[in-house]
Amino acid sequence: MRKHVGVLTAGGDSPGLNAVIRGIGKAAQDRYGMEVIGIRDGFRGLMENRTMELDGQTLSGILTLGGTILGTSRDKPHRMQVGGKLMDMTDAIVENYHRNHLDVLVCIGGGGTQKNAYRLLQKGLNIITLPKTIDNDVVMTDVSFGFNTALGIATEAIDRLHSTAHSHHRMILVETMGHKAGWLALGAGVAGGADVILIPEIPYDVEKIAKAILDRSHHGKHFSIIAVAEGATSLAEAAALAKNDKNKAAKKMSALRSKTKPVWRELLHGAHALKLAKDLEELTRLESRVTILGYQQRGGTPSADDRILATRLGSACATLIQEKAYGVMLAARGDKAVPVALKDVVGKIKTVPLNHSWIECARRVGTSFGD
Ligand code: F6P
Repeated sequence: MRKHVGVLTAGGDSPGLNAVIRGIGKAAQDRYGMEVIGIRDGFRGLMENRTMELDGQTLSGILTLGGTILGTSRDKPHRMQVGGKLMDMTDAIVENYHRNHLDVLVCIGGGGTQKNAYRLLQKGLNIITLPKTIDNDVVMTDVSFGFNTALGIATEAIDRLHSTAHSHHRMILVETMGHKAGWLALGAGVAGGADVILIPEIPYDVEKIAKAILDRSHHGKHFSIIAVAEGATSLAEAAALAKNDKNKAAKKMSALRSKTKPVWRELLHGAHALKLAKDLEELTRLESRVTILGYQQRGGTPSADDRILATRLGSACATLIQEKAYGVMLAARGDKAVPVALKDVVGKIKTVPLNHSWIECARRVGTSFGD
């Protein structure tokens, strides 16, 4: 019997998504004679039964395309906006899975998608997931596709900002994405030679950042590049969050988010860096400017690394389907694609270990982490 494979992309888009769709589709069709159906806009498209044929024609020429030809959304099966109300649409999704005669649903996404896919696995659907996110915060995989491309974009930005910082004798703060993990800021900070790198894993003391910048100044370096992860916090903020102000902070944040989501993103994207820049100006008397990299890090054609990673994982996924190895996330481990139990992936995020080689090498060349 010809297997029917459903593929969906969910959560934030990332470079490499189309490369992995192509890897799954071509291997499943050409190698195993399977039929591959694309599901539009993540879990919402499955709820609404919006699909598209993934055949030789639609898969041609997408390896190098940014974004996802399927579209994506952050909709969750169990809490979906329908007619202005939040509803559990899991049953509709299960029904459409069977209506399309699917043997397996492949969900490509980050932490949230892994969790949503696991819920469908628990409802009896055959599920395989793949790790996608520029944040690189999915556990049990060396890396998620999208990260390498975003790292290159952020590094190039830092390279470019060096010349203007040097010319104007300024501190330039560059905010990267990364959600609650510091991989992007850390990687781009090391690769771009940032003088200060601030990540969520190392809450910072603004006085120590100022001291590092003034030390540079006293040695004739009247400019500094500060790579700031969007999730970075000061010691005070980290303490407030830990001192179960978390509820208050979370309530405030979700109120803000519910009212003005797009603005919320803009607000949060940059608010932190802007305040830190002001504080540093007061402490150092140096001029500062802020650049928010934002969604550029998710755009455009994937890097060669991401294309190779996406093709490796995508084509290996077809083999898993052939072997009916369901209930797993296909992880990148060295040059292997290794299935790991989906239940062991959900609900966790991969943050930067404090003894990571990138942190150690940065410290060895004199980079400050504000600690
Ligand atoms: O998870 C990827 C990511 O780009 C995060 O780095 C960022 O915080 C978030 O998505 C932005 O979400 P949205 O695309 O919903 O604005």
